[in-house]
Amino acid sequence: MCGIVGYVGNRNSQNILIEGLKKLEYRGYDSAGVAVYTSEGLQVKKSKGRLANLESKLGETPLNGTIGIGHTRWATHGKPSDVNSHPHTDNSLKFSVVHNGIIENYMVLKEELAAQGHVFVSETDTEVISHLIASLYEGDIVKAVQKAVSRMKGAYALGVLTEHEPDKLVAVRLSSPLIIGVGEGENFIGSDIPAILEYTRNVYILNDGEMAVLTRDGVELMTIEGNFISRELFHVDWDIVTAEKAGYDHFMLKEIHEQPKAYRDTMGSRLDPSGKKVVLNEVGMTPQQIKAIRHVHIVACGTAYHAGLVGKSVIEKLARIPVETDVASEYRYRAPIITPETLVIVVSQSGETADTLAALREAKRCGARVLAITNVVGSSVAREADDVITTWAGPEIAVASTKAYTSQLIAFYLLGLYLAQTLGSQDDAYIAEVIAELKELPEKVERILAQSEAIKNVAEQIATHDNLFFIGRGLDYAVALEGSLKLKEISYIHSEAYAAGELKHGTLALIEEGIPVIALATQEDLFEKTVSNIKEVTARGAHVFGIHSEGHYELAKAVDEVFAIPATLPLLTPALSVVPLQLLSYYASLARGNDVDKPRNLAKSVTVE
Ligand code: M6R
Repeated sequence: MCGIVGYVGNRNSQNILIEGLKKLEYRGYDSAGVAVYTSEGLQVKKSKGRLANLESKLGETPLNGTIGIGHTRWATHGKPSDVNSHPHTDNSLKFSVVHNGIIENYMVLKEELAAQGHVFVSETDTEVISHLIASLYEGDIVKAVQKAVSRMKGAYALGVLTEHEPDKLVAVRLSSPLIIGVGEGENFIGSDIPAILEYTRNVYILNDGEMAVLTRDGVELMTIEGNFISRELFHVDWDIVTAEKAGYDHFMLKEIHEQPKAYRDTMGSRLDPSGKKVVLNEVGMTPQQIKAIRHVHIVACGTAYHAGLVGKSVIEKLARIPVETDVASEYRYRAPIITPETLVIVVSQSGETADTLAALREAKRCGARVLAITNVVGSSVAREADDVITTWAGPEIAVASTKAYTSQLIAFYLLGLYLAQTLGSQDDAYIAEVIAELKELPEKVERILAQSEAIKNVAEQIATHDNLFFIGRGLDYAVALEGSLKLKEISYIHSEAYAAGELKHGTLALIEEGIPVIALATQEDLFEKTVSNIKEVTARGAHVFGIHSEGHYELAKAVDEVFAIPATLPLLTPALSVVPLQLLSYYASLARGNDVDKPRNLAKSVTVE
């Protein structure tokens, strides 16, 4: 996730920008840059890679000036590179912009500006903003920015600087966080409080649709329509570590709560405004190539593999193509039957997992087309695959994957719909219905998160046990596997996930008095059968915690405790039912006093076989 810092005051801005960016490193980034107004005008320095690369460039030729903007980039549009790094400028080099978020209509704006003679040098959406502001500038930077944002669709936090008005720093927020730090004779902008905490604890928190104009002597707040706003200063009394977690106790909890945004960002401009189709411009396969696909192999590890199990059901149901899902470390050694008619989908949050990368290479060697679903633009998996669907979950810092997993599910729904509309395997009305339901998911996740306390109570009970079971049928089984992995990973409680109908073939022997069983019963057509399986364990003394969709309140009679998730299409329930399981693991880990974000023996990115 990108980071923004801005400064106007009397000190050397370059140092303040770099120190601020260092405080934002925890968010993850792949390149960095600064723009400073110097005696020679607006100057920009940027560099791919760590901040140290940028620092060494600045060490050779420092930028001396007292107003500037800085940025750490987490690549979205365009690979990590010097030229794609922010700040971006217009052709006159007199306007400079840093941006977090995504401009959905940037292609339309880019074509319009190109027709006026603007020349673009990067692959980014952000560069369009600097050109747009320059084209609208008539002597007042605030008005130019207001006009520019009225043309932009998407999510953004912006910092804007122009050589024409070198005392002003303009900041704008729409759906991407931005705060203003207020000092003595100096003021700051930051995408996050840690960026400015060393200099001031007095901040204004911008709301969506608001902007700020900063000079050395003051800050003016207004709406993007230009109506002035008066607001109380907020005094930050957190320490730096708490500030990095945005007030949450752990990154995992923060990331669980970021899921509604991750869903919205991953769907973003991929849902056509008509609500009737999915637009996946990043998939380069022609309709003929899609029609030639005879089978799909989904290959991944850990949590990403569990997303692939859901992906199998989604593609089979929507596109009616047979799908196999495999663990990457097994796939390449089992001589899978891969032909040029096989589409291989690799799923990896980091895009660097050694097993997944090796499976990708094997698939390509055998002539398959490879499509990657990854969260990291420019990662090895993204670079080597033929097509890439990026999940816009933002960097995931906790070892236990949460928002990356659910964003992978969203990517599978989009892909399944895209294949279905290309193949004509589903009628238009059904596709529109699924899209309408997809759009409702973020708000439904918010409703689940609002009930975290109920899950915490259950987690505190199960934290006292050493063994438990997760059961479910169909997609509920796929989610049970993910719930069980999450619990093992961070609470160190042994658990097993079982297809509910399979228990009686052996595992039932392990059910004894008081053992906790988490039973998922969200699949409409399998509900009665799942209830029968639940009765098999309650009859043997298990303490059952049931998860059902709203409407199926009768589950309460069959179990000891229940949790209802909002109703949705059965195919989409995994994107909701996994959320209480993530919270369950989190609170169980907490109750056991574990290091939630850094569980023992595990690494975030597994780059060895
Ligand atoms: O980066 P990847 O998605 O390729 O990682 C795959 C697994 O290592 C990962 O999902 C792991 O299982 C998680 N820590 C689970 O929370």
